[in-house]
Amino acid sequence: MNTIPAQPAKIVLYPDPVLARRAGPVEVFDEQLQALVERMIELMRDAQGAGLAAPQVGISRRLFVIEGDAGPVETPQPMVFVNPEIELGGDLISFEEGCLSIPDVRVTVRRPQAVRIKAVDVHGEPFELEDDDFLARVWQHEYDHLEGVLITDRMSPRDRLANRRTLKEMRLDFEQDSEQ
Ligand code: NI
Repeated sequence: MNTIPAQPAKIVLYPDPVLARRAGPVEVFDEQLQALVERMIELMRDAQGAGLAAPQVGISRRLFVIEGDAGPVETPQPMVFVNPEIELGGDLISFEEGCLSIPDVRVTVRRPQAVRIKAVDVHGEPFELEDDDFLARVWQHEYDHLEGVLITDRMSPRDRLANRRTLKEMRLDFEQDSEQ
């Protein structure tokens, strides 16, 4: 069991239920996992996103990729985080976020500024990083995806009102696509 299924064709959109599910751990580090990571990087770049989590391509597993320029300056290539664990610290900071699964929605999200992340790479090798800037924000956003949490779950009443129509249209589109 537990190997990764076929290559995802596209990014899954809100309110697909896979986005609301807590993802399971990656247990097999094989060629299929590497192929999935490459495909996720491709989809992230096509969509010009800063990061992309596996549930966003319909695969409920604990991994995400982030774009190179969102990462450490000395390693400007895209990075993959498999089975990540995060520790949060510092002050709560408000910052506007978007999500490739909810394209026309921007939400101001309050999150802790500092993050220590422990993960393994595509070969299962452990590593650890810290950040208290944009990268810490991206890690938290992508980690949320692994927990089945979206920025729509973190909206203020004001953002909820501002995005109500867009989200309703997305729900109607999803229902119509599901019926076909
Ligand atoms: Ni997202």
